[in-house]
Amino acid sequence: MVKAGLEDVVATDSTVCFVDGKEGRLLYQGFDIHDLAEHSCFEEVVYLLWFGRLPNKSELETINRELRINRKLPDEVVRIMKQLPKKALPMEVLRTVVSLLSMYDPDADDNGRESTIRKATRLTAQMPTIVAYWDNIRNDRELKAPLEDCGLAENFLYMLKGERPDELSIKSLDIALTLHADHELNASTFAARVAAGTETDLHSAITAAIGTLKGPLHGGANQEVIKMLLKINETAKAEAFVVKQIEDHKKIMGFGHRVYKTEDPRAWHLRRMSKQLGERTGDLRWYEMSDIIEKVVRREKGLYANVDFYSASVYYMLGIPIDLFTPIFAMSRMSGWAAHILEQIANNRLIRPRAEYLGPTKMTYVQVEER
Ligand code: ACO
Repeated sequence: MVKAGLEDVVATDSTVCFVDGKEGRLLYQGFDIHDLAEHSCFEEVVYLLWFGRLPNKSELETINRELRINRKLPDEVVRIMKQLPKKALPMEVLRTVVSLLSMYDPDADDNGRESTIRKATRLTAQMPTIVAYWDNIRNDRELKAPLEDCGLAENFLYMLKGERPDELSIKSLDIALTLHADHELNASTFAARVAAGTETDLHSAITAAIGTLKGPLHGGANQEVIKMLLKINETAKAEAFVVKQIEDHKKIMGFGHRVYKTEDPRAWHLRRMSKQLGERTGDLRWYEMSDIIEKVVRREKGLYANVDFYSASVYYMLGIPIDLFTPIFAMSRMSGWAAHILEQIANNRLIRPRAEYLGPTKMTYVQVEER
């Protein structure tokens, strides 16, 4: 019998990422996510995912430079963005502009490893510019040229808000990007690999992945979490709200996971950041509500928080608009999608499974007038 949602079905070999759902461990190319979150940075993780090992000093300098000098968008792309409907969702804009950028990419026709890495570098550098520019365009704000003297997290916050962010904000976003960079064969990565398996180009595969990440059961969950927290609004109301949701058989967004049957190791870091940011702003409400909800859902349903639960309050306290939460996830996961695409093309075979046919087999065609 077919497993609904392909649960536990192993669909490929991979060395990119290991998710140990029983022990709550996550490894990128063999490195524990706790070590990477503690000691590394997003740019180094990008290199690790694409090249399978940590960079030496000069390799790190090279990838840092490439990710800085490729942040600009072609003028024509910015002009097109300015003509999009202002009500367009940032995820729709990201999906559309990533697709559009393939028409301006000098390596567009070449799907070899080297050119795919160049294209992936450009897209990783450009995606934060797309997201920040869209927020500025829709709010009639000035577009700041991307900086070239700082990391991706700092530049993104600068472009979004128009001023240099503080150290805690930069560090918090950089760790969040590191934590979201890859997660084995999640739905969007699978979509990217299926597309890459047809020998299509990187931009097409990433466009498919962005469309897949957008769904509320996947990357879209972090936006739903903050909407829930805003609805509850007071720490004292959190427990009753969640108990009622559970009684009404409603899903609590940010909980549960197809693979983790214990704590998601990424949640540990995001929980800590949520608390730190709350202490800094003097408003611990979001952290405290989250903490209560987490305990109640654990007690009542035996479910653990996933990566989306605490990332919601972290991004909110960083002053990021709610509908940019999922695009930020995409900005980070771009690195993992590219790593999987590179792995797919290195040893490709078209991904073409079968369906268990359950329909009738002996139907007789009747002319429309006689039906
Ligand atoms: N709230 C309440 N109940 C839940 C939740 C939840 N968040 N998640 C799972 N359950 C319950 C289901 O109702 C179901 O109960 P039942 O057996 O009594 O019907 C049981 O747990 C199994 O749930 P499924 O939805 O079948 O589990 P599946 O592995 O298909 O789904 C998923 C995993 C989609 C993540 C699910 O837990 C969910 O919808 N969570 C909320 C959305 C969310 O947070 N998504 C982000 C996931 S992480 C990511 O993509 C980055």
